[in-house]
Amino acid sequence: MPRLSDHPRYPLTFGPSPVHPLPRLSAELGGAQVWAKREDVNSGLAYGGNKLRKLEYIVPDVLASGADTLVSIGGVQSNHTRQVAAVAAHLGLDAVLVQERWVDWPDVVNDRVGNILLSRVMGAEVRLDPSGFGIGIKDSYERALEDVRARGGVPYGIPAGASEHPLGGLGFAGWAEEVQRQEEQLGVFFDTVVVCSVTGSTHAGMVAGFAGQDRPRRVLGIDASARIDATREQVGRIARHTAELVGLGRDLRDDEVTVLEGWAGEEYGIPVQSTLDAIRLVGRLEGVILDTVYEGKSMAGLVDLVRSGEIPRDSTVLYAHLGGQQSLNAYSALFTDG
Ligand SMILES: Cc1ncc(COP(=O)(O)O)c(C=O)c1O
Repeated sequence: MPRLSDHPRYPLTFGPSPVHPLPRLSAELGGAQVWAKREDVNSGLAYGGNKLRKLEYIVPDVLASGADTLVSIGGVQSNHTRQVAAVAAHLGLDAVLVQERWVDWPDVVNDRVGNILLSRVMGAEVRLDPSGFGIGIKDSYERALEDVRARGGVPYGIPAGASEHPLGGLGFAGWAEEVQRQEEQLGVFFDTVVVCSVTGSTHAGMVAGFAGQDRPRRVLGIDASARIDATREQVGRIARHTAELVGLGRDLRDDEVTVLEGWAGEEYGIPVQSTLDAIRLVGRLEGVILDTVYEGKSMAGLVDLVRSGEIPRDSTVLYAHLGGQQSLNAYSALFTDG
């Protein structure tokens, strides 16, 4: 039976990411004790983030392939492509990034600040593309791979969010093991984990990793794509595949894959009132910064679930902070009055 440790891992992070309580938020919500695990500060590569965890298990395959160029795709303000650009720079490879118009957001500096700015600084070839949101394999992505080949390069393709990559779920299966070790050190048990879900392999990896542990817990995915059926399908499929890769030795039950809707609003990338309220709440009470596309939405879910008692008062909750603050620059108009 394979195990996670059988899969080669190329370290890109500082080590275990920090886990700490959010005492003022917990007191304000008047229910469960809320803690955070901080993937937003997990690495020195371009501010870190959840994709670096996934890429740790993909880089060995990149190196074995002999590729000289990483090719990837995302929205204009993709955190994923920024992290791919950082990994390419770190490894001495080139990067070609297709940046699609996933979000119809009117900010005039949307394609100049935040993530895309950082990718340009790191030397990536950034290709703006007018296509809308969709995380499947796109023509623009195939074209980018073809263009690299045509100019004599050897491309290595990493799909959106690294989720459709066969190894994309391993990083967060490892996260689940890391949580268990940190719980032993801290003397706590997180009975509930809250995580933002869009391309799916972050949540899916966690489900596969936690499923092999003795003590059951709830992993609540909060959809931020506004396409709940697609998110559920992706998370379930990637979780089952990842469970095989880590030798879970049994089928995942349907009730182990929970993706909740209600906080994504109408569209991926467009914040709604609950998103902005959650961002301000956590900023003001804890000095912790969340973004409008992902983490503001998952925190809005956590806030409501704790306040309503759906996450019970005696729970200890772990909020997975997956990063992504860099895109806030493109949403500055929403915060001119604080
Ligand atoms: C900051 C942030 N949070 C959450 C997510 C969602 O993770 P996943 O795409 O693995 O579902 C992403 C990436 O899509 C992200 O960049």
